[in-house]
Amino acid sequence: MKILSARRLKKYFPIRSGVFLQVSAYVRALKAVDIDVEEGATIGIVGESGCGKSTLGRTLVKIHEPTEGKITYCDPTGQEHDVSRSLGRNLAPTFRKDIQMIFQNPYDSLDPRMTIRDTVREPIITHRLLPDAGAVDSYVAELLTKVGLYPEYAARYPHEFSGGQRQRIAIARSISVRPRLLICDEPTSALDVSVQSQVINLLKDIQRETNMALVFISHNLDVVHHMSDRIMVMYLGSVVESAPSDALFDAPMHPYTQALMSAVPSWDPRNRKLGAVKLEGEPPSPINPPPGCPFHPRCPRRMDVCEKTMPEAVDIGGGHMVACHLFAGS
Ligand SMILES: Nc1ncnc2c1ncn2[C@@H]1O[C@H](COP(=O)(O)OP(=O)(O)OP(=O)(O)O)[C@@H](O)[C@H]1O
Ligand SMILES: [Mg+2]
Repeated sequence: MKILSARRLKKYFPIRSGVFLQVSAYVRALKAVDIDVEEGATIGIVGESGCGKSTLGRTLVKIHEPTEGKITYCDPTGQEHDVSRSLGRNLAPTFRKDIQMIFQNPYDSLDPRMTIRDTVREPIITHRLLPDAGAVDSYVAELLTKVGLYPEYAARYPHEFSGGQRQRIAIARSISVRPRLLICDEPTSALDVSVQSQVINLLKDIQRETNMALVFISHNLDVVHHMSDRIMVMYLGSVVESAPSDALFDAPMHPYTQALMSAVPSWDPRNRKLGAVKLEGEPPSPINPPPGCPFHPRCPRRMDVCEKTMPEAVDIGGGHMVACHLFAGS
């Protein structure tokens, strides 16, 4: 069953300047992105810094209002809701509980004035999940144990914990309401390498137990490959390639994906001939994106058409979508 999908999702951030703070330009952070999240599935989102990964996650959970496009949420009874324009109380009642998000920096995302007990309890109480305080306390203890922390820690404050422990607390809090989808925005990139895989395995274990779906944002392609059923590659606010995880690793098609892959140490050397694509320079500014294909200024295989027309995504077989003029009409 589908949980969340988006069509032609756009998010432009206005830039204001001058005495009257007029809108002088827009940061085009997301340009017509499509995504479908099914129950129990993991979708990986990869791409260089600034390509719009966090904006996509935040727009999907409705932290940001989409500028254009449609977000459809399917509640547990199977009923569909158009949540594109809904806010606060107008959102479908189960949306806030069903769709949770954890962030990159566990140092910012926990309230320093709240004990761990209160941090984990808050969503349970907001969503009236349990009848009385005793039941809530034993559930909090159960959740802390599940994420590998001692329940005795409940009375402590976030500053007493390491980054990895804080991320476990954030995970306990977000899974407390039994979400059907957890959006993880670089959940391990602020952590020591040694604890990264523990947090990832914890997320995988929880997913196996609960059949929760994950949208997993990361710039680490190896981690995304390990985690995901499907991977979406973003460049300058657009999805340039999207495919089942193994298909993408076995045969990346978009010159940008090939360039990203060739930087992955574990990537199959048989494919390295493709990796002749070298990424040079920085992506262009999303305030003044180039016309046509956003990758053309850096693309070694660019053709005349690439400078003029944005390529539409085409399915080259088995749900492997590529938005590149090399594959137009295939
Ligand atoms: N609230 C905001 N206001 C204005 N511009 C924003 C805002 N949030 C993001 N942007 C801009 O939108 C673009 C996409 O940013 P986003 O944070 O989504 O990228 P990202 O792929 O998550 O990058 P990173 O890998 O560094 O986290 C960037 O140019 C960024 O500066
Ligand atoms: Mg980000």
